[in-house]
Amino acid sequence: KEIALIKVPFGLAGARNGAELGPDELVTAGLKREIASLGYRLTREVRVDCPVQPANVPARRLTAKYLNEVQQVSEKVCQEVSSTLEEGAFPLVLGGDHSVAIGTLAGLTAHYQKLGVIWFDAHADLNTEDHSLTGNMHGMSLAAGLGHSTFNLSQIRGAGSFVDPSKLVYIGLRDLDLYEKKQIRAMGIRAFTMHDIDRLGMKHVIEQAIVIAGSGTDGIHVSFDMDCLDPREAPGVGTPVPGGLSYREAHFAMECLASSNHVVSMELVEVNPLLDQNRHTARLGVGLIASVLGKTIL
Ligand code: ARG
Ligand code: MN
Ligand code: MN
Ligand code: MN
Repeated sequence: KEIALIKVPFGLAGARNGAELGPDELVTAGLKREIASLGYRLTREVRVDCPVQPANVPARRLTAKYLNEVQQVSEKVCQEVSSTLEEGAFPLVLGGDHSVAIGTLAGLTAHYQKLGVIWFDAHADLNTEDHSLTGNMHGMSLAAGLGHSTFNLSQIRGAGSFVDPSKLVYIGLRDLDLYEKKQIRAMGIRAFTMHDIDRLGMKHVIEQAIVIAGSGTDGIHVSFDMDCLDPREAPGVGTPVPGGLSYREAHFAMECLASSNHVVSMELVEVNPLLDQNRHTARLGVGLIASVLGKTIL
């Protein structure tokens, strides 16, 4: 069991400052200890060099803020994920805001022809430059992965082909922009909203998600935005939305993913230490990663 830790301290594509502090916070909260105690060998540990200050102050009406910075970071993340997969290790990417997923998806699609994706999030992150109401690129990462935005995987050196929308599953949605709702319906993306989780229960939802993303694919990538959790459980996120996943729902989902043996990579994003209380959100994030990596209660 080999794992690579890819830390991406990038926060310029989020709604507020602080997500760039996420990777160090997760390490401080004991991530490496957990990984080691689960019997993994850390074969690679990198800290991707990320711009913290804009090269030039963005104009007020830019449709995609910090596009150049996001592109730079995406290429570096893509390279690290690709090298990790070539070495046969499991990529664990730590954000940063959710725009880091663009680079992760780029690296994964380069290696896997048919990638399944389970996207845990309160948001759909499906906006394009033309539809985003905020210009924040963390709300555009899946549009880039699917090839809907002008800036997309095809512009990233080393990326593979776009993510197949029929192999993508959302879990935890509860705050969608109008355009995103239309897109989800038009593409027929499987979306388990909070309403569906209330109605069906997490057991059914995660089992279905594993079937959709895990059958006929080379494996499942888990993209975990900490704001999928209820803000009472995870206050340290940049765009909190009430009514999210409970501690047990999230852990149970991660435990089921681990026992499916289909998970080939994971990223955990949007931990914002500046908005956290007593490192609560980072500690929760570490626990969830441990569960995906096989930690069980007994
Ligand atoms: N839909 C909103 C936007 O486009 C919020 C996106 C939040 N994304 C995230 N990764 N937290 O700005
Ligand atoms: Mn997100
Ligand atoms: Mn989100
Ligand atoms: Mn299977």
